[in-house]
Amino acid sequence: MIDTHCHILKEDYDNQEEVIKRMKDNIIIVSSASPKDIDEIIELIEKYDNVYGTIGIHPEFAKTYKEEDLKKIEKYLIHPKIVGIGEIGLDYHYTSEEKAEQKNLFKKQILLANKYNKTIVIHSRDAKEDTYNMIEKYKDANTKYNMHCYSYDLEMAQTLTKQNITLGIGGILTFKNEKKLKEIVKEIELEYLLLETDSPYLTPEPHRGKKNEPINIKYVAQKIAEIKNIDYNTVIEKTTQNALRQFNINEKNRH
Ligand code: NI
Repeated sequence: MIDTHCHILKEDYDNQEEVIKRMKDNIIIVSSASPKDIDEIIELIEKYDNVYGTIGIHPEFAKTYKEEDLKKIEKYLIHPKIVGIGEIGLDYHYTSEEKAEQKNLFKKQILLANKYNKTIVIHSRDAKEDTYNMIEKYKDANTKYNMHCYSYDLEMAQTLTKQNITLGIGGILTFKNEKKLKEIVKEIELEYLLLETDSPYLTPEPHRGKKNEPINIKYVAQKIAEIKNIDYNTVIEKTTQNALRQFNINEKNRH
């Protein structure tokens, strides 16, 4: 199995090595939430066979990032184990005053992804229309997109998957009161779903309340199997194939 999105960095994990070793037969894709994460992600992908990375500048840094952060990202995009740009996108949850800056940073990074043919991992919160318009406007025929931690409605999920954009599904799916995401998982074909934990956040049931870690994606897979009424192993196998394809990870690296 592949955890397609998590943040298992030292500042949150004293037991980072253990957490990675628990996934030794699987793949972990570590995503940068902040420009300061990039160096550690490079160290991790060089140290561990089963760890890959995506690097990018999160919209919360739209006003504070430095040009050299973008240069650093561009420099590392040619690293064979950097499999995408992310997480990048738009987040209007806490602010509506930075829309222009957020769009500008998002655009710059989409263009970088297009230039280096890297997958884009999108973070989008309370910005459905603008995110979709940005994708439409700058989409390159070869660039692949993943909507991480999908949080919008079924209609948008259908619109996106029609364009081959995948949806990241994580711990929220296992929450008792979550109905919308369950409906989406039921309706959308398995080939468009990726498993993710977003560790250390969004721990799935039955461990909700504790710190999340990549091995917990098995609970998300179980829930998908239950909702779609299909075999657990089918979910693992198909979502693994989906992730390998999404991030152009070579089968020979699969453990
Ligand atoms: Ni994240």
